[in-house]
Formats: sequence, C-alpha cells, structure tokens
Amino acid sequence: MPDILSIYDLEKRDVLRLLASAEKMDALLAKGKPIHTLEGKVVANLFFESSTRTNLSFQTAAARLGAMPLSFYPEKSSAAKGESFTDTIRIIDGYADALVIRHPVEGSVNQAADIAEKPVINAGDGGNQHPTQTLIDLYTMRKLKLGLEGLNVTLFGDLKYARAMRSLLYGLGMFGAEVTLASPPELRMDPALISAVKEKFGINITETQKPSLSGCSVLYVCRVQKERFEDKREAELAAAKFRITKGILDSAPKEMAVLHPLPKLDELPPDFDSDARAKYFEQAKNGVPVRMAVLKECILGE
Ligand code: NCD
Repeated sequence: MPDILSIYDLEKRDVLRLLASAEKMDALLAKGKPIHTLEGKVVANLFFESSTRTNLSFQTAAARLGAMPLSFYPEKSSAAKGESFTDTIRIIDGYADALVIRHPVEGSVNQAADIAEKPVINAGDGGNQHPTQTLIDLYTMRKLKLGLEGLNVTLFGDLKYARAMRSLLYGLGMFGAEVTLASPPELRMDPALISAVKEKFGINITETQKPSLSGCSVLYVCRVQKERFEDKREAELAAAKFRITKGILDSAPKEMAVLHPLPKLDELPPDFDSDARAKYFEQAKNGVPVRMAVLKECILGE
C-alpha cells in the first residue's frame, strides 16, 4: 500500500490489518524499548494548514520507529518566496522516504501523489478526507471494547466541512454501523456521500437536528470548521446554537463513549473532561500507534 489518500481506497481487510498492526505497535510502545523498524528512513511532514495532533503524532510515530521526522513549515520555506507546491513536492520526494501532507485545498494531496515516487499520506485535504483520523477512531472504538460491528454511532456537529466526519462515515459503513447524523440544517453531511455509503454498505443512516442518544454507543463530536466558511459570522452563529448540553449528556447511556478528533472549542460542556465517558484524550494518544502502523506499511509495504 504505497499511498493513503482517502478512506475510499481502503477495503475492510486493509483497515483490519492496519488496526492489528497498530495493536502490535501499542504493545511495543508499552515495553518502552527502542524500536528499529524504520531505522535510517526519513519521514517528511508537510503541513500547509495548522495542526497539533496530526503533525506531532506523525513525528512521534516516525521517531518511535527509529525514522527521522523532517518538518517543512511553508511560511519559513521557499513556498513563502513563491515556489510552487509541485516543485516543493518534487524536492522533498528526493529527500524523504514518505511524505505526510496536509493542505487546505481538496485534491492537492492527490496531486502530490501523482508527482511523488515515494508514498504520500493524506493528513487532511481541505474539507475532503482525513483517512488516518478514521483509522484512529476505529482503533479507539475497538480498544474501548465497544466492538466494531453494528455499533450505534451519532456524529454531531459540522458535518458539511469536517473531513474527519466524512471519512468516518465511510469507515463506519464498512463495519455495518447504525449512524445518526446530527447537525444544523446548513451543515448537513453531503447527501451524495450519504447515498453512496448507504448503497455500498446497506447501513441505516438517519439525519436529525436533535439527537436523542438513547441506545447510542459512541457520540462523536466535532467543532464547526470556521476556517472553511466564507462568512465567519455564520460559523460563529452555528457554533453557538449547536452544542452538546449537560441535559443531553445526563440522559445519555452511562456506558457511551464520547469521541472528538480535537481541537474542541465549546461543543461540549467545559467540565465534561472529567466524565468517565470522555475518551477523546485517549483517542488522541492512539494516534501514535496507528500512525506507526501506517508509516510502516507505506514505507516497507508490509
Ligand atoms: C481535525 C482536522 O484537522 O480535520 N483535527 C485532527 O486532525 N485531529 C479536526 C478539526 O480540525 O476540527
């Protein structure tokens, strides 16, 4: 598997293999001994858009496997002098063994993959795809022993612009989940994607503005993606009116897990972090073993 550009490129068996590999990475990390799997390799991280977790967990994953992470900062590089994206990719392709790329323009990571000889990993392209986040999400659900088949999952928030949600809906489809999509009407999930997932996997997908959460195993929340709105005021209004309230959480199942790709703003009550159902910090930590599995497979092809 040279590139990982979209969750659509993965079959269920690919996902299961990567999750099993991530489990092994987790066990190796727990031993605390040096790992030499990617010794001598170089992993370039090119982030043309802000990132904390994705960038640093890919760097950590590379370092934990014995590879050297290389960071490219557009504002401090020749991109700031006007060098084209394609030239930048050609150059870094000559230095590194894999390119992890985040870019605000949808499809730009695919463009990079067409040029680069080395594997390209999509770390988020605009509002389109975030396949490795979905692997982390599925890994987290499995690690929490929720099982993956036929889970009852509610996706809550900005389902129009959040790439993590778009990729996750497809990933959940693979495992026959029962999905509720909760968003304000102006931030609904792309109807074409909903139809495609229903058709491909035959799952039930319900849309609502007021989720009930009874019977819900996973509540997956994301922030309003303000940077993708032309009218920022519209984003602020949507964010202010569409939040998870204490009341919703009080009536939700006690064993439900609450996940979030992070960063979180005001989508959840401020004191919810200490609730036993809040699993998003564990989820973020799972980024390291999952991305170790991804790097190993992309670079070594096994
Ligand atoms: C997400 C992203 O960048 O798409 N963050 C992440 O990678 N963990 C979600 C977000 O920014 O809201």
